[in-house]
Amino acid sequence: MGDLSSNPNSNNYENYLNLPKARFMDAMDIIQWEGFWFEPGLVQPAMTFRSTFKAENNDVVLTSNMKTGTTWLKSLCLCILKNPKTDEDYDLLVKDNPHFHVPTIESTIYSTKPNIDLYKTPSPRLFHSHLPYIVLPDSVKNTDCKIVYIARNPKDTLISMWHFFNSILHHDQDPFPLDKTVDCFLTGVHQFGPFFDHVLQYWIESKKKPQKILFLKYEELKRDPKGEVKKLAEFLGEPFARDEEIDKVLWRCSLERLQNLEVNKNGSTMYNVHNSLYFRKGVVGDWKNYLTPEMEDKINQTSRIKLEEYGLFL
Ligand code: A3P
Repeated sequence: MGDLSSNPNSNNYENYLNLPKARFMDAMDIIQWEGFWFEPGLVQPAMTFRSTFKAENNDVVLTSNMKTGTTWLKSLCLCILKNPKTDEDYDLLVKDNPHFHVPTIESTIYSTKPNIDLYKTPSPRLFHSHLPYIVLPDSVKNTDCKIVYIARNPKDTLISMWHFFNSILHHDQDPFPLDKTVDCFLTGVHQFGPFFDHVLQYWIESKKKPQKILFLKYEELKRDPKGEVKKLAEFLGEPFARDEEIDKVLWRCSLERLQNLEVNKNGSTMYNVHNSLYFRKGVVGDWKNYLTPEMEDKINQTSRIKLEEYGLFL
């Protein structure tokens, strides 16, 4: 799957060599493709995904930028679509981390041995991608498969990202300074950035095709979990029969519960990230503990300039 030379679109490789490059936080290279920045290792998997993936009408593709609530969304959709309604005790989330059950396609192509078929899972297939809308495969855009996007306010996303990158540094590396992280975020030179363009593309598409793309906000899920999860289940074609079912899914997917499951305290995903790192505080407004008023102003201003004219407020 990850071998571009055996791929009908292997001219991808030549294109790849000519792509613009930059440094993220003076620490890692990143590469620009189709107007967005990626870790170098993910560009070819993303190209492969785009040129080879054949969506099926009942596929569900979850999409998000980094640190916007992906793990939560994966858990919720897993419970709605994959936990059998007839067996109360059966819970996939206890067995493995949500990222194991709902693979992030580009990362899985990058890390999987070529002969493992990522796409052979029982229907409805449930996938995730951090890729921007513009590079999603045509078959995802043009079939009846559904897309769910989760957005989060830029200030909490940025702080969550900053914590995450600092937590995966080698012990001999200095922590990333916050002011530089803010600058990278605002110039868009970061993994899957520019953040604002990423959100905006999905927002605009969701307005055009509300039956196909559900646009969720992390803050709304926190404010009205029952209402939002009900909406999500209806969109996925699996409406809840009883209120207690929603409560159960919310409890199963709560940060507190997931964080304390053995598999998340001690396991690692196939992306070589310790499972515990996917769970931190999950608090709306945590940015207030870190950003200076000047940083806050700069981010608010960019958010307003980029999003407000489209009726989006983050
Ligand atoms: P914080 O760093 O602000 O705590 P992602 O899953 O896209 O990587 O996003 C990670 C963010 O979502 C982290 O935010 C993490 O704590 C939060 N998160 C993870 N699981 C969650 C859950 N079940 N409910 C609410 N928030 C969750």
